[in-house]
Formats: sequence, structure tokens, C-alpha cells
Amino acid sequence: MPKIFLVTGSSRGLGREIVTAALAAGHRVMATGRDPRALEDLVAAHGDQVRTARLDVTDAEAADHVVSETIDAFGRLDVVVNSAGQGDRASLEDTSLEAFRRQIDTNFYGTVYLSRAAVPVLRRQGGGRERGYEQVGIPRNRAARALGPETASRGGRPLIQRSTVPTLDARQW
Ligand SMILES: NC(=O)c1ccc[n+]([C@@H]2O[C@H](COP(=O)([O-])OP(=O)(O)OC[C@H]3O[C@@H](n4cnc5c(N)ncnc54)[C@H](OP(=O)(O)O)[C@@H]3O)[C@@H](O)[C@H]2O)c1
Repeated sequence: MPKIFLVTGSSRGLGREIVTAALAAGHRVMATGRDPRALEDLVAAHGDQVRTARLDVTDAEAADHVVSETIDAFGRLDVVVNSAGQGDRASLEDTSLEAFRRQIDTNFYGTVYLSRAAVPVLRRQGGGRERGYEQVGIPRNRAARALGPETASRGGRPLIQRSTVPTLDARQW
């Protein structure tokens, strides 16, 4: 049965790949990005199977709004994909505090805002999925140096997600 997806970071990278795969599998997608112009080709190719919306994931109000838009457009929401991300690949001492905070705002708070908006909807419906990338490991080699701030900014997200799992019944999946 077709599902309703909401995907952040749909302009390029993994988010775009997930949108494309979901559409190819017959699902319906709310594809979001900071610049909706980068999503126009999706509508041209897939018509009503896809809707697009502007979403900068660091904007909590916009996250609430896009969940409402998804329900208005498709009637429900089944899968939330937190794909938007900022990875600067610089060491702790080479990262400015501003850049560190930007990664935390995007990678951690970005998923918090969308989850807070979407999880109550999924729970009311009796189930759903909320996904993002787990990147909590640091290798024990020199490559570790460049991964500290980015990995730290992602480390809390899976814990927040796991806290919702017991109340999001996954058995129907
Ligand atoms: N690819 C991998 O193998 C891999 C593995 C582990 C983790 N990751 C991490 O997962 C994230 C996604 O990977 P990727 O390969 O798809 O990266 P990517 O090609 O750099 O794409 C990043 C996506 O996030 C969007 N984005 C960034 N900040 C945003 C914001 N504030 N609000 C909304 N969208 C925002 C970008 O949109 P714009 O077009 O507007 O910039 C773009 O769509 C990255 O941070 C990456 O470090 C990737």
C-alpha cells in the first residue's frame, strides 16, 4: 500500500535519492528544501504524486507548518526522513563556535523540531516511522580528528528517536 513520505533536504544528496526511490516505488512524497526552485523538476516529472514545500529545518515554526501541509495535501503521514544535514568535517579546534552551533542547529535541533511536529500525528494514526542517519561512531585513527563536531551534532538524534519508538507501534510495518 502506498505510504506518505515527508523528506527534508530533498534538493540533493541522500534526501534526493530517497525521494526518487519512494516515488519510483509508488509512494507519495512531500519533498522539502530550503529553496523550492530546486524541487521544481520533481513536480514536472511526477505531478500530484509529489508536493513540495520550503523548509529550513532550523525553523521550528516552518516544521510545524510543513507537517500540516502534508496532512492537508495527502490526508496522512507515514514516514518522516530527516535527511537535511550540515557536515563541516573540521576538527574541534579548527571549527568556529558559530560553525559548531550551525551543525547542532541543523543536525540535532532540525530533527527535534520536525519530530515534535510529526510524532503526535504518527501516534494519533496508530503508527509511523521517523528516520535519520546514525553517525555516532568515531574511528580510532587520524580521520577521527575531522569528525568531532559533526558527529557530536548528530549523536543526540537517535536517542530522541528511540524515545518515541515504544509509542509508535511499528508492528503494522
Ligand atoms: N552521504 C553519506 O554517506 C553520509 C553518511 C553519514 C552522514 N551523512 C550526513 O548526512 C547528511 C546528508 O548527507 P548528503 O550526502 O545528502 O549531504 P549533501 O549532499 O551535502 O546534502 C545536504 C542536504 O541537506 C540540506 N540542508 C542543509 N542544511 C539545511 C537546512 N538548514 N535546512 C534544510 N535543508 C538543509 C541541503 O540543502 P541545500 O541544497 O539547500 O544546501 C541538502 O539537500 C550530511 O550532513 C552528511 O554529512 C552523509
